[in-house]
Amino acid sequence: VADIRNLYAETGMFTFDPGFTATASCESKITFIDGEAGVLLYRGYPIEQLAEHGDFLETCYLLLYGELPSAAEKANFDYRITRHTMVHEQMARFFQGFRRDAHPMAVMVASVGALSAFYHDSTNIADPTQRMVASTRMIAKIPTLAAMAYKYSIGQPFVYPKNDLDYTSNFLRMCFAVPCEEYKVNPVLSRALDRIFILHADHEQNASTSTVRLSGSSGANPFACIAAGIASLWGPAHGGANEAVLKMLAEIGTPDRIPQFIARAKDKNDPFRLMGFGHRVYKNYDPRAKIMQRTTREVLNELGVKDDLLDVALELERIALHDDYFIEKQLYPNIDFYSGITLKAMNFPTAMFTVLFAVARTVGWIAQWKEMIEDQGSRIGRPRQLYTGEKQRDYVPMSKR
Ligand code: ACO
Repeated sequence: VADIRNLYAETGMFTFDPGFTATASCESKITFIDGEAGVLLYRGYPIEQLAEHGDFLETCYLLLYGELPSAAEKANFDYRITRHTMVHEQMARFFQGFRRDAHPMAVMVASVGALSAFYHDSTNIADPTQRMVASTRMIAKIPTLAAMAYKYSIGQPFVYPKNDLDYTSNFLRMCFAVPCEEYKVNPVLSRALDRIFILHADHEQNASTSTVRLSGSSGANPFACIAAGIASLWGPAHGGANEAVLKMLAEIGTPDRIPQFIARAKDKNDPFRLMGFGHRVYKNYDPRAKIMQRTTREVLNELGVKDDLLDVALELERIALHDDYFIEKQLYPNIDFYSGITLKAMNFPTAMFTVLFAVARTVGWIAQWKEMIEDQGSRIGRPRQLYTGEKQRDYVPMSKR
């Protein structure tokens, strides 16, 4: 790396790589992807094993600190997160300023950004203790804010965290409990959502994570950086895809209409794409999609729900996997293809899907931000450009134009 840096310094050479298809922007020890083999490792551990045996907070600890926690470390970490789940009471008033029909991702961008206005004592990024407190606060408070965004959109009172529950059960309760009724968390749904969180926790230098790193490279505070990550995640080519998949499946409606949508996806004059298909890095099956498909079945079985959209999804996958276009372009289902059906069965409205992604990805963003800040060699991110505009020319007075 040092040699390459020197080469840049000496020759002024730089690469033109629109969309960063072949340019590493940083070194990282957090997440490894082998897109050809369909492998995803967090700190060396396969995603399949973490999803099967671990829980989300254990995964958070692993991503943040590099090792799986001992029982005592895990208990301490859980306690720290639990202690920070409340948000400042003024935040509740902050929410009242939004329209009820605001997209919850818009509310998340604003409310997470606003945390830096509430927690001044953890914005000094040069102080390791403040960095640790900011990281804890972010992971702990993001489900509370997400649940508040949901409750606000449906006109129900906010439900405060109940900290004898585990992280994901607490989140489900904040979303679905109402003051006038007893609410009992379904352990199967809680485990399924916890697994969905694990699958989404980090994915190396995707658009939102790169956004967080680039924002953080200027020294901006972590709350502002995560808000920038949430904004980037919102797009339909990224985290917004799970919402778009469900809309697409509903539009297809029945399996017999699939061929016409496949034909549209292949037509270069039609901007339509099969949402939930394709990935910049995975050129084989997305390993998260396999686990997600299994989780979808578990959730539908538990709830006794028969969703016609699942039949459409399975048939669409079957047809696409045998279609020359999709084979040639190596387009396979990605994690978002099945997550929407699962979240819908759990009663989350479509607009909340990307919010749930943001809840899970917060730890990845934080781990990457922390790694960057703690990397002695890190510098402000400053991409170059190839200028294709006018050559230098003289100003023309208004009367002569
Ligand atoms: N449907 C139809 N054709 C597709 C699709 C698709 N979903 N995805 C890619 N292609 C085609 C493109 O038209 C292009 O064809 P060409 O070579 O003839 O021009 C080729 O495959 C390569 O596509 P690119 O857009 O260059 O691939 P890129 O790596 O830039 O994009 C992306 C990856 C954004 C995920 C893309 O596959 C896509 O738009 N998928 C649908 C949205 C989606 O599911 N996003 C979720 C990503 S995963 C995540 O964020 C968690």
